[in-house]
Amino acid sequence: VFAGETTFVKGVVAMDGLPPDDRVEICFAGRSNVGKSSLINALTGRKGLARASNTPGRTQEINFFTLADFYIVDLPGYGFANAPVAVVERWQALMKNYLSGRANLRRAFLLIDARHGTKPVDDEIMGLLDRAAVPFQAVLTKVDKLKRGDLDRALERTRATLAQHPAAFPELVLTSSEKGEGIADLRAIIAGID
Ligand code: GTP
Ligand code: MG
Repeated sequence: VFAGETTFVKGVVAMDGLPPDDRVEICFAGRSNVGKSSLINALTGRKGLARASNTPGRTQEINFFTLADFYIVDLPGYGFANAPVAVVERWQALMKNYLSGRANLRRAFLLIDARHGTKPVDDEIMGLLDRAAVPFQAVLTKVDKLKRGDLDRALERTRATLAQHPAAFPELVLTSSEKGEGIADLRAIIAGID
């Protein structure tokens, strides 16, 4: 899957702008600044493909990329964002509508900052995915910032949270877009989706 070229298709600001749902789609969701765009760049090996930045609320549209015969989708974050409230509310409503209403969405990767663990706003999104019956898989991000012991504790806590969600895969992926850790594992998981 990752051998070919990844290309940007479009940025979507409303549900009626979504491309046709005629192929397998996966998406990356998570709180603002958790590392969604960086992870897409690491997975595809293209640094500037999805725009990443230190400002929470960088991604404000639903960005579609093609990867072989898949769409991969970079979502705006949820939770705090450095943007006007009205704007944030609009894109967060779009993100939730997308997550609960996209017929060809095979799996959502739900990113969790390994340092912070899941927050109430993550629980809300996991509940939404449960109700919409969208299978989701948790990915701990920025593991390069933690010591082994802290990472083990984060893993344990996140596993306990996932156990409460029927749509969650029990398997968790640990990643660092910065150091490359877990990227090959995640590529293999994505290549196995059909
Ligand atoms: P929004 O689009 O605002 O929701 O953010 P995002 O989830 O797309 O996060 P983004 O990829 O823009 O990354 C946010 C910040 O975290 C950037 O400064 C990244 O460089 C940094 N970052 C992302 N992944 C990692 C990682 O694995 N390790 C470290 N140390 N920093 C990371
Ligand atoms: Mg982003």
